[in-house]
Amino acid sequence: MRIAAISDLHIRPDGSDDDFLTAIRQRLEVISPDVFVIAGDISDNIAVVEKTLSAIKLSNAENLYVAGNHDIWFEKEKGIGSLEKYSRFIGDACTNAGFHHLPDEPFIKDNVAFVGSLGWYDYSFRRDELNIPEESYLEKEWQGSYWRDYYTVDLEYTDREFTELLNSKLEYDLSALPENIETVIYISHHLPFGALTPYKDSLPWDFFSAFMGAESTGEILLNDERVKLSISGHSHVRRQIFLDGLLAVTVPVGYGRPENDDFTSLVHDGIAELELTDGKCKVHHYVDGDICEGLPYAF
Ligand SMILES: [Fe+2]
Ligand SMILES: [Fe+2]
Repeated sequence: MRIAAISDLHIRPDGSDDDFLTAIRQRLEVISPDVFVIAGDISDNIAVVEKTLSAIKLSNAENLYVAGNHDIWFEKEKGIGSLEKYSRFIGDACTNAGFHHLPDEPFIKDNVAFVGSLGWYDYSFRRDELNIPEESYLEKEWQGSYWRDYYTVDLEYTDREFTELLNSKLEYDLSALPENIETVIYISHHLPFGALTPYKDSLPWDFFSAFMGAESTGEILLNDERVKLSISGHSHVRRQIFLDGLLAVTVPVGYGRPENDDFTSLVHDGIAELELTDGKCKVHHYVDGDICEGLPYAF
């Protein structure tokens, strides 16, 4: 089974990314995967999410999506809150566009299950040596630098409560899989392993690392030996790690766009190609690091 994966497209709402999306689609048609996965962060505008998914949906593959934090930013003018987006509107957008929203239901192909979650953060990836007080994490603010979700996400849970809620859902999804499932592929937006988190020894960057994911989610994956592959987004620095027979990768593209509108290299680097054969995962094509480094910021 060939899997193509990408995340964090951060599509501009004005149509100026149309050529970028066409380039992604053309590259995907060359790769011709069995399964195409997007691990979240297309847009805070639900209409843009649906339009983008429709533009890059592959007709000869299974198309899977997992919402990112950016996708659940509330839209005041439409009266849609973050939880409503995650539990209903993004699923509807996926259905309309021919994608399967994994948090709503795992996707099963033969004896392989794709299980998905937005995932969340509980500050377990924070660096204790920074001695930043607990309140700063709870308030998502340190010395005037805010983690953007503070302004844009209106969940009625604390971050730790929401992490636990999504962990419980993940445990349920894993426990409810049919008996013939031998391999599980986990798709999330936030990171399940601290080792995927980039630190730069600079602030506020390393403060923001606390909002990358949760170690408790990774423990659930490591406790289930069927889980062989984990694909995530959110961190805009790409990384791959191996943990106890589990391959974990991050597959973001990011905010940069080439000035000359030649997307060949960005798209080639951005789409990860993975292969699953007899329960074993192999990396076919993967570029790590920040593939947008040096490119102009698109927003
Ligand atoms: Fe992102
Ligand atoms: Fe994100």
